[in-house]
Amino acid sequence: MKLLIDSVNLEDIKYLYEYYPIDGVTSNPSLLYKENQNPYKILKEVREFIGEKAELHVQVISLKAEEMLKEAEEILKELGSNTYIKIPVTPEGLKAISTLAKKDVNVTATAIYNQMQAYLAAKAGAKYVAPYVNRIDNMGYNGCQVVRQIQDILDNHNYSTEILGASFKNSNQVLELCEYGVGSVTAAPEIINGLIKGDMISQAVLDFKSDFEELCGKDATMVTCNQD
Ligand code: E4P
Repeated sequence: MKLLIDSVNLEDIKYLYEYYPIDGVTSNPSLLYKENQNPYKILKEVREFIGEKAELHVQVISLKAEEMLKEAEEILKELGSNTYIKIPVTPEGLKAISTLAKKDVNVTATAIYNQMQAYLAAKAGAKYVAPYVNRIDNMGYNGCQVVRQIQDILDNHNYSTEILGASFKNSNQVLELCEYGVGSVTAAPEIINGLIKGDMISQAVLDFKSDFEELCGKDATMVTCNQD
């Protein structure tokens, strides 16, 4: 499963890239708003840090297909052709997705709240569909179940479109998609940091260290114990 960071905070991105096997970054207009700088300035810094081959997903703002296409052109020009254009799945969005897919532009169909949006986006040629797990949960449905159904629909229709699970409130939602073999998720820094956080894990590591120090002395490691 690919793991992307749903944030454009460069400090968080650098930290997570240092410790986790990260595959890219996703942004949306609200995440850009949080950084309170020129969007292209931030996105270019992110692109420079993650490299031209890593996945960067950038969302259009316009509501009309023609304008979305112009935005896509500008985004690709500024951030490189490996940039995924995020387009919300509305009727106008589907029109834009079809046009971009025919030009071999990578599209991430976003703002997906139901299975039919995902199916239609896949049919229109999107490379990814991004269902919003937690927002679906908050509507009183089961976000992970909707994602599983989308995965079944894509498999049953032999579409190569992949799922990019998005909008998570907790690490267990990520685990559930991982168990089902969902191809990719994008999660906020705090969710990624929570994936393997646990007092028992930290305690186990400290216990091992303490036993080894009893054996070889304070702060001993497998390097220093070989130098006596
Ligand atoms: C990703 O594509 C979405 O923009 C994002 O995951 C939405 O997450 P939120 O529900 O936490 O805002």
